[in-house]
Amino acid sequence: MPDLSVKISGIEFKNPVMPAAGPNVRNSELMIKAIDGGAGAIVTKTISVVAANDPRPTIRKTNCNGLMNCETWSETPAEQFIEDCKKIKNLGVPLIVSIGYKSDDVAKLGKIVQSELEPDAIEFSTHYVGRQVEPLVEIAKSLRKSVDIPIWMKISPNFLGIEELALAVSPFVDGFVAINSFGPVLDFDPENLEPKLGSKYGRGWLSGQPILPIALRIVHQISSVQNKPVIGVGGIARGIDAIKFIMAGASAVQVCSAAIQKGHSIYGKIVSEIEQWLEKHGYNSLDEIKGLYSRSLENRLKYSSIPVMTIDESKCTGCQACISRCVQGALYLSDDKSKVIAENCIGCGYCQDFCAFDAMKLKY
Ligand SMILES: Cc1cc2nc3c(=O)[nH]c(=O)nc-3n(C[C@H](O)[C@H](O)[C@H](O)COP(=O)(O)O)c2cc1C
Repeated sequence: MPDLSVKISGIEFKNPVMPAAGPNVRNSELMIKAIDGGAGAIVTKTISVVAANDPRPTIRKTNCNGLMNCETWSETPAEQFIEDCKKIKNLGVPLIVSIGYKSDDVAKLGKIVQSELEPDAIEFSTHYVGRQVEPLVEIAKSLRKSVDIPIWMKISPNFLGIEELALAVSPFVDGFVAINSFGPVLDFDPENLEPKLGSKYGRGWLSGQPILPIALRIVHQISSVQNKPVIGVGGIARGIDAIKFIMAGASAVQVCSAAIQKGHSIYGKIVSEIEQWLEKHGYNSLDEIKGLYSRSLENRLKYSSIPVMTIDESKCTGCQACISRCVQGALYLSDDKSKVIAENCIGCGYCQDFCAFDAMKLKY
């Protein structure tokens, strides 16, 4: 059996799958469900100095199996939340408490959380504190000064200078968590013009499968420019999603939307899918795949010519799934096999995603 344990910021995790801050971990009862569901750690809902009061509805389904939400931070006052979290101590998994937002808030809350709860780490959210590097560095420094346990910065995807931010913050934190939900976004019912969410203007934040490629890119960026561990989050619902994040440089992953959509057993399901994938591919540990994507980039051929699609006729079944997708008119059926009109093929590569028989390859 492959070894799924990981060590991050000196903390031992029996597996790399944890909940992300959200409604799925908004109290100790749900946190215990997450542990029973197979999570390798608990990350709490974010608490701040004032309890939130979110406009309803707060969570809705939207395009591409995504979610939109206008949930901010915990509606439970911090003192009560911290008291409740004491039930999660000594349950055999690390406890990471999420806090926010401004410098003074995180310094004050960090101190209280550390002395009252002694969690394994503190994650601080940067969701509502703008996009400038300097204020974010100040927040990190302020929390760093107030606590002596590991601190992880959670990155919002709207920040444009990700590498610049990661480099500037890295000396003051023990790790990064990337990413928070994406937005703002909007959806409404055209029949009655009711926004899906209860917020002013109906705006909210997008999460789940649609944001996975954004998260993957940001995890890769952060882990490429500095050495502190990165925890990947965004659209992870399957073992193979988690594998990709680890290959992109993540040390572990977090899951929020898939737990809302599929329940707390999702953590354990992702864990066993990771295990099966590693075993099938002959890997003994997560260390063996960590950062593989970056390493493959170093060796990758620098293609200069435009490729043309080729068809392996021994595999092609003539199902025409590729032909119906080719907007260039570069594919046709002859003798029950797909054929390519080379002068029409622009090498876009789209058709190969619909071949269920691995019969298509771009040739350079
Ligand atoms: C309903 C909801 C509430 C959330 N609340 C928080 C929060 O309190 N603190 C935080 O840092 N992130 C929060 N998030 C963001 C998630 O932790 C996560 O970063 C994001 O949704 C992307 O992961 P996912 O695609 O697995 O949901 C929330 C997300 C959702 C959907």
